[in-house]
Amino acid sequence: MTVHFIGAGPGAADLLTLRGRDLIASCPVCLYAGSLVPEGVLAHCPPGARIVNTAPLDLDAIVAECRAAHAAGQDVARLHSGDLSVWSAMGEQLRRLRAEGIPVSVTPGVPSFAAAAAALEAELTLPGLVQSVVLTRTSGRASAMPESENLSAFAATGATLAIHLSIHVLEQVVSDLTPHYGADCPVAVVWRASWPDQRILRGTLGDIAAQVSPEIERTALILVGRALAAEGFTESALYSTDYDRRFRPQTARGEP
Ligand SMILES: C[S@@+](CC[C@H](N)C(=O)[O-])C[C@H]1O[C@@H](n2cnc3c(N)ncnc32)[C@H](O)[C@@H]1O
Repeated sequence: MTVHFIGAGPGAADLLTLRGRDLIASCPVCLYAGSLVPEGVLAHCPPGARIVNTAPLDLDAIVAECRAAHAAGQDVARLHSGDLSVWSAMGEQLRRLRAEGIPVSVTPGVPSFAAAAAALEAELTLPGLVQSVVLTRTSGRASAMPESENLSAFAATGATLAIHLSIHVLEQVVSDLTPHYGADCPVAVVWRASWPDQRILRGTLGDIAAQVSPEIERTALILVGRALAAEGFTESALYSTDYDRRFRPQTARGEP
């Protein structure tokens, strides 16, 4: 018996790995984390599966579900939105399950920042312009930010920022970032990336707040950085004609 943690992706039911789909189909118990896990993903559960929405449960109750499945010898599919490596609350569940000797596995999912970048048809790292992406958030009721991890500190690097869980404090985000990136810096807000009602708002630090209407809440990412609207970046050396690389060695043309 194993509790399989599975990244359920950003919303579209077909943005799920084949491994994740097959594990879900093999588990008689499915615990899923609320409305962000799409119904189409739950459709892979086998007939008669016990399917539990864990949104109203506390950690003790979630572990109790896993313990009961363990006692019955039943595998569990534990679904969280996006990928499990960021803001999934998987860490605390893993710690409890390991302490009880319950076996676990982890299957990655498509993270929402990647789905948002895909919706924008954007590469977030462009040669000569920006080579880092910071996945971050602002303080919330459930999790305070460590003091050193503030937006100004990340902004000082000039990296592309993918700011989660923060659309409700957009004006504060804008005022923290503007001194570093400038009011003309491109910004995109992607609401419900990959959902059928996905919405994209593009603007600058100077005008994005005025574009965001009240229905754009919760499931939205704020992407900030020069890469979002850049045309003047250099081409990568990787595909240049005179770049000598392992799979296209210039010396393989027969020159001495
Ligand atoms: C609790 S975090 C979960 C992050 C998730 N583990 C991931 O890999 O993206 C929830 C936040 O992720 C972002 N998010 C999740 N799904 C999204 C989507 N489909 N479109 C835009 N943002 C999304 C929003 O910022 C939301 O407030």
